[in-house]
Amino acid sequence: MEQENIWDAETAQRYDTPGSGMFAPEVLEPAVDRLARLAGQGAALEFAIGTGRVAVPLAERGVAVTGIELSLPMVERLRTKVDEATIPVIIGDMATAVAPGEYSLVYLVYNTISNLLTQAEQVACFRNAARHLVPGGRFVVELWVPELRRLPPGQTATVWCSEPGYIGLDTYDTLRQHVVSHHFRFDGDGAEEAQLFRSPHRYVWPAELDLMAQLAGFELEARHADWAGAEFTAESRSHVSVYRIPPSP
Ligand SMILES: C[S@@+](CC[C@H](N)C(=O)[O-])C[C@H]1O[C@@H](n2cnc3c(N)ncnc32)[C@H](O)[C@@H]1O
Repeated sequence: MEQENIWDAETAQRYDTPGSGMFAPEVLEPAVDRLARLAGQGAALEFAIGTGRVAVPLAERGVAVTGIELSLPMVERLRTKVDEATIPVIIGDMATAVAPGEYSLVYLVYNTISNLLTQAEQVACFRNAARHLVPGGRFVVELWVPELRRLPPGQTATVWCSEPGYIGLDTYDTLRQHVVSHHFRFDGDGAEEAQLFRSPHRYVWPAELDLMAQLAGFELEARHADWAGAEFTAESRSHVSVYRIPPSP
């Protein structure tokens, strides 16, 4: 399962769900508010910009946003909303691709650092973020907390959502620190066939993420359980972590 094959034209076509799911105002607005505050007067760079779910409203707030993205079909969807002059995008791998300019903020949201399937690539991604930032600049990562406590001994899969028309389950390879998310969608009651979307991830604990950040020259500035600033606790299922390059002395 290569990322280019996963984020194909069909996936790009049904990615946007205006007003609901990850596009619901209560999900999106706190994220855009926080990112706009963190960017300040500087420019922002989104790693894995996708169809511009976050970048488009952030640019509408007056922040200069550039993107890096692997999938051409996802960028084609973005181009139905904004042109290249408004949000330029570099096609490439966020672990290595370079965008012109300097940024006060680089951000990587919606669990997407886990799309890099090795520790080496994830470390390279932190280093690539650092490369783009001015002194004092920030790298924001939104990521779920691995749910290994749900996995009884001997079991390698968990169902994390089961509702009419949808089943979500994860299969684990704990040796390689990999999880494959399976999303089954059924078109109505009694349907015999389901649509399946699968995505592979390398799950990362917050502590490992912090070490990757340290290797790239960052300090952890803040960690919250959500974009609105809820306290991060042992029960938190996700986190928004803000890493900072120390300002010049
Ligand atoms: C879950 S979507 C997130 C898109 C967008 N950031 C958002 O919040 O809606 C994941 C995106 O990551 C992109 N992607 C996956 N691996 C990548 C890589 N190594 N470099 C750049 N983009 C990548 C995919 O093509 C896809 O657009």
